[in-house]
Amino acid sequence: MNVHIFQKGGYIINILVIGANGAVGKKVISQLKDTEHTSIALVRKEEQVSDLEDIGADKVVIGDLESDFSHAFEGADSVIFTAGSGGKTGADKTILVDLWGSKKSVDLAEKNNVRRFIQLSATDSPNPDGESDVMRPYAVAKHVSDYYIKNSNLDYTIVHPGPLQDDVGTGKIEASLTIEGDPNSYTIPREDVANVLINALQVDSLKREAIFIKSGNTEIKDALNELK
Ligand SMILES: NC(=O)c1ccc[n+]([C@@H]2O[C@H](COP(=O)([O-])OP(=O)(O)OC[C@H]3O[C@@H](n4cnc5c(N)ncnc54)[C@H](OP(=O)(O)O)[C@@H]3O)[C@@H](O)[C@H]2O)c1
Repeated sequence: MNVHIFQKGGYIINILVIGANGAVGKKVISQLKDTEHTSIALVRKEEQVSDLEDIGADKVVIGDLESDFSHAFEGADSVIFTAGSGGKTGADKTILVDLWGSKKSVDLAEKNNVRRFIQLSATDSPNPDGESDVMRPYAVAKHVSDYYIKNSNLDYTIVHPGPLQDDVGTGKIEASLTIEGDPNSYTIPREDVANVLINALQVDSLKREAIFIKSGNTEIKDALNELK
């Protein structure tokens, strides 16, 4: 895949990746390795540290969104939030991780003067009532955490993909500021989502914006820059 990430010669940023051991998080870390920017990978367990180092994390910190993880912000000047409790846990963890963990991350970003904050959301977050009974608590958690970010002082970008795939990325997407049609039609490989999260950090016109993404025909960098 031809991945375009961050032009060389720009400023170097130190990016805290929350949820770094996840499927998307790991792709973010390994793609950041190919840039001049540095990564801080937040993981939950000691045994995950060497994996993250092996794929290129510059620093790995252990912490849990359900307890104090403020130490993870040391030296960070941007955040990519990709954490989530996943489908195997109940609505209690969805509230504590996807909603409250995101809220606490926003608060810590503000406290630590980390202005740029990229939140991985989902296409069903704007309209939780359109979701199935099973998915509605997750969509509500995402809806409320997105709302909280929008009311923060951060230069956030909220990225809404639909169902994530493990296919190889194409480096090409369709991006928009509004969603049209079925939220589940916004399918996209995780590899391309990771690329969008990283590139969104560098697009100033995406500050304080929410974007919807799916696989498409436009190079990721161009698709993001053409949005405004
Ligand atoms: N699946 C989809 O189709 C879809 C669609 C749209 C949006 N999304 C969003 O994309 C996110 C990332 O997807 P993914 O496939 O990368 O998910 P994933 O593989 O389940 O990754 C989630 C990560 O969050 C971490 N995490 C969970 N609870 C935590 C806690 N208390 N403290 C710190 N970290 C914690 C997990 O840690 P461990 O590795 O230790 O378990 C895991 O590394 C999802 O959570 C969801 O919000 C998903």
